[in-house]
Amino acid sequence: MSTVLTVRVARKTVEAEGVAGFRLVAADGARLPAFTAGAHIDVALPGGLVRQYSLCNASAQADHYEIGVLRDPASRGGSQALHDAVHEGEVLRISPPRNHFPLDESATHSLLLAGGIGVTPLLSMAQRLHALQADFSLHCCSRTAARAPYRRRLEGGAFAHKVFFHHDDDAVAQRIDLAATIGAPAPGKHLYVCGPTGFIDAVRATAHALHWPDARVHVEYFAGAMAPADGQGSFEVELRSCGRVIRVAESVSVVDALAAEGIDIPVSCAQGVCGTCLTRVLAGDVAHNDLYLTPAEQAANDQFLPCCSRARSPRLVLDL
Ligand code: FES
Repeated sequence: MSTVLTVRVARKTVEAEGVAGFRLVAADGARLPAFTAGAHIDVALPGGLVRQYSLCNASAQADHYEIGVLRDPASRGGSQALHDAVHEGEVLRISPPRNHFPLDESATHSLLLAGGIGVTPLLSMAQRLHALQADFSLHCCSRTAARAPYRRRLEGGAFAHKVFFHHDDDAVAQRIDLAATIGAPAPGKHLYVCGPTGFIDAVRATAHALHWPDARVHVEYFAGAMAPADGQGSFEVELRSCGRVIRVAESVSVVDALAAEGIDIPVSCAQGVCGTCLTRVLAGDVAHNDLYLTPAEQAANDQFLPCCSRARSPRLVLDL
């Protein structure tokens, strides 16, 4: 993380089965940098891990940040560390907020679809839309009612009538009908989705089938929800500024191959989610393995995420 903020865990709460909420305040009591709905922070965790978490409080609340963390037994340690090793009073290092999932505040209607813990950025968006007195609805999908993050807060909140819960263990009639919920596109109507890859793929496919334009379907993947890797073989990268050519071996990332030669690209998630390592590509055919660029941006083939993406051609020329 380049710029670092030092925060203290002011409160740790249980927000659903397996979900812990953390309220973070500046360790020196100062105000924290402002953020916009949909933003996330990087959190440096015990053991040297860095993980991204969406801010779920109202963006007008500059005195604290709030994140919700699902305990994921399959995780590489990030969520476990926060659940088990980080308690109230603990001091953490975080990055300033960044927003790759911004809200279009000019929308005539915003449809927010959350899969499980994917509700966190949408919670901040819902609070912003409510403050703007804008038209919106929030649909929260989870396996059971007990596993629906922030359910109590949403049910008791000011915009409870705009929130709908769907559970897999409900009667069929209460499970989400994606086609009916998403409906036909209309000018000024925007769709936001965050959740596990399967949920996002289903929402995207439904919106596509209903002829929604890509530009009005906004997606935020979790860190770790990776697509299968493409371009597994070795290849070369050429640095345009000096003409140096560096070999990227089969099991080594472009970032690591460059770092071994003394060329450092800033990295945060190292999973193709956050966009920190975005690099311009001047020639060659990219094998995109990230979840950050849109399909249209990937097809343009003029930028890539070297922490995870590779090459289909023998060489990539990079704007470095
Ligand atoms: Fe996050 Fe590469 S470091 S996308």
